[in-house]
Amino acid sequence: MKGMDILSNIQNHQKVVLIGDGAVGSSYAFAMAQQGIAEEFVIVDVVKDRTVGDALDLEDATPFTAPKSIYSGEYSDCKDADLVVITAGAPQKPGETRLDLVNKNLNILSTIVKPVVDSGFDGIFLVAANPVDILTYATWKFSGFPKEKVIGSGISLDTARLRVALGKKFNVSPDSVDAYILGEHGDSEFAAFSTASIGTKPLLQIAKEEGVSTDELAELEDGVRNKAYEIINKKGATFYGVGTALMRISKAILRDENAVLPVGAYMDGQYGLNDIYIGTPAVINGQGLNRVIESPLSDDEMKKMTDSADTLKKVLNDGLK
Ligand code: 2OP
Repeated sequence: MKGMDILSNIQNHQKVVLIGDGAVGSSYAFAMAQQGIAEEFVIVDVVKDRTVGDALDLEDATPFTAPKSIYSGEYSDCKDADLVVITAGAPQKPGETRLDLVNKNLNILSTIVKPVVDSGFDGIFLVAANPVDILTYATWKFSGFPKEKVIGSGISLDTARLRVALGKKFNVSPDSVDAYILGEHGDSEFAAFSTASIGTKPLLQIAKEEGVSTDELAELEDGVRNKAYEIINKKGATFYGVGTALMRISKAILRDENAVLPVGAYMDGQYGLNDIYIGTPAVINGQGLNRVIESPLSDDEMKKMTDSADTLKKVLNDGLK
């Protein structure tokens, strides 16, 4: 353990290692620094200079937020970490889908998980590199960790995007919208409108009363599904949204919250699915993923979930099994 001695004496001192210091990783690091969540934050990347520069830059934020030791590190630093967050990988270029990245990013991932495990790490993996559902499954396979200890960012960002869009449509704050995107974090995802509500009132009922048609909701869902493409076309990458989503999941883990969050979870019979990671709400706490909350989907939505899982299974079968 490096850093300020005063921090190492704090009870429940918590340590996070970020692997991958690109735009997503550094946005996550910034969100974590803003919230003052872990006392020790280590940045690992093949581009060493960038991690040193980012650590120096980020530590300048700590006098305004909370004391924290932030430094550039190595895989050996994972040994006593509570959480390892993987954002390393090639990002989507304009016109590319997340699934197009699978071969490149599986290769990168295979060079990461082994040294993390070899360090003696026995905390929780949180995976965000794309295609995230496939890479989370691969992290679980490569690490040999129990499924509860490997969590994907899954549909956390897509669900945030849905809440933003519904908040605008129905003129309420996005954090007052209870609605989820489920399935792949990618083109086969879908909005589970039948389970959505605002202030306990079913969303579909509100839509009917306010004259919002099914077509309009489908258009809104499309906008959410394609929002990453829109952002990538305009500024080359997405990072603030996912960085903040990762911070929220990290907080639930490190503060042992038992928070229900949209993530990527291993399926053990839920939604009739097995041996796959896919997006769903789940209870997140200090032990990792405590349990999946299986959404009570309509028949039509259940078919979309199955189709989305089939898309992922095909990629897994081609690339991993
Ligand atoms: C996103 O949805 C590209 O997966 C990234 O913003």
